[in-house]
Amino acid sequence: MARQWSGGHSVAVLCVGVSGDPGGPLASGGEGGEVALWSQDGVLLGTVQLHGGEDVTCAAFSPVSNVLYVSHGEAVSVLDPRSLKGPIEKLSVGTDEINWLSLNETGAVMAAADDSGAVRVVELASGKVTRTLRRHANICSSVAFRPQRPHSLVSAGLDMQVMLWSLQKARPLWTVNLQEVTEEEEGDTQTSGQLLNPPLAHCVSVATCGNAVACGAEDGRVHLLRVGAGSRPEHHTSLQTHSQGVAQAHFLSFLPHPYWLATGGNDSQVALWDVSWAMGSTGGEAKGRAAAPRRKHRGKHPATPKAPADQPEHEGASGVETGHNPPQGKDMGPRLRFSHGDKVNWLCPALLKGEPCLLVADQGSAITVYSLSGL
Ligand SMILES: *[C@@H]1O[C@H](CO)[C@@H](O)[C@H](O)[C@H]1NC(C)=O
Ligand SMILES: *[C@@H]1O[C@H](CO)[C@@H](O)[C@H](O)[C@H]1NC(C)=O
Repeated sequence: MARQWSGGHSVAVLCVGVSGDPGGPLASGGEGGEVALWSQDGVLLGTVQLHGGEDVTCAAFSPVSNVLYVSHGEAVSVLDPRSLKGPIEKLSVGTDEINWLSLNETGAVMAAADDSGAVRVVELASGKVTRTLRRHANICSSVAFRPQRPHSLVSAGLDMQVMLWSLQKARPLWTVNLQEVTEEEEGDTQTSGQLLNPPLAHCVSVATCGNAVACGAEDGRVHLLRVGAGSRPEHHTSLQTHSQGVAQAHFLSFLPHPYWLATGGNDSQVALWDVSWAMGSTGGEAKGRAAAPRRKHRGKHPATPKAPADQPEHEGASGVETGHNPPQGKDMGPRLRFSHGDKVNWLCPALLKGEPCLLVADQGSAITVYSLSGL
């Protein structure tokens, strides 16, 4: 059942963020500098209009303190959700438009992905940029710290690259080109029905185990990667159900295992997937054969160290090159899929008063809340 939260915005809502506190508030950002704060039952707690009127592209709560960060234009404003007035502080992060924010688990550092392709890491105590990670050759659309892995984050961009970074080394440990790995997965045959759009990456999410990475892309696919031993990219496969670009892909952090993934796209579809079959069966460092590494490598993908001996060399079209039988057909499809009725701008999984929900923002000024209870 869907319900709507309205009255907080007069124009399109572009992003939604949820506080890590059980019972804590949610925030939404919209076009024209609008920010709204909501209770878990959808009561509007306050609004603020940011000076400058730039679109609010991302809203992220600190996991440890009562602070909300919102990106708009080239700046990040710091807001106090207990008294939502003007910004307490404005961080000048760079000179390019910011597309995405991610805070690390202790809330000590924030990463901002921007239009120049850079990820800037800001130490929040001082408000200073401590690292600028430059490797993307086009807009960096999204960035995510890896849970349980300090000093490590993943970024994705319109250059079709997904990068795993070490903050200590300030360089990528690996780079995966989504176009190359998709061609490999397809067995170099042009499959019919494949979208002609290149896999420009719009969104990246890391599951709570820290190793499962999902990336929504313009080719309509949701690309799945695993960080394996030695931080190598272990595995690539992709999920297909969207017929247009996938703007949003977010792992859910509040269900019994970490491999539930919600996606939303320009085709107005919202899908919920259980990707355990691709990522390993149980939480943490799954050693399951379902996560067996691929053996065919090309280009700059590092070879995986130890492929199981019983794993046959496989040049076929199946994305999941495992030695046992991966789930086939409908088991690989979404567990839930519905039409939201409008292009999805943002998708936010949240536990609202104990009820698992998906919040969807679109071209309209309201937020739609879908309950997942009964899943
Ligand atoms: C968060 O960042 C701070 C500052 O770099 C670091 O000391 C801390 O270990 C990080 N914590 C996590 C969980 O990433
Ligand atoms: C999805 O919509 C956005 C915003 O209208 C646009 O920038 C993007 O190119 C679209 N992608 C696809 C695949 O239609």
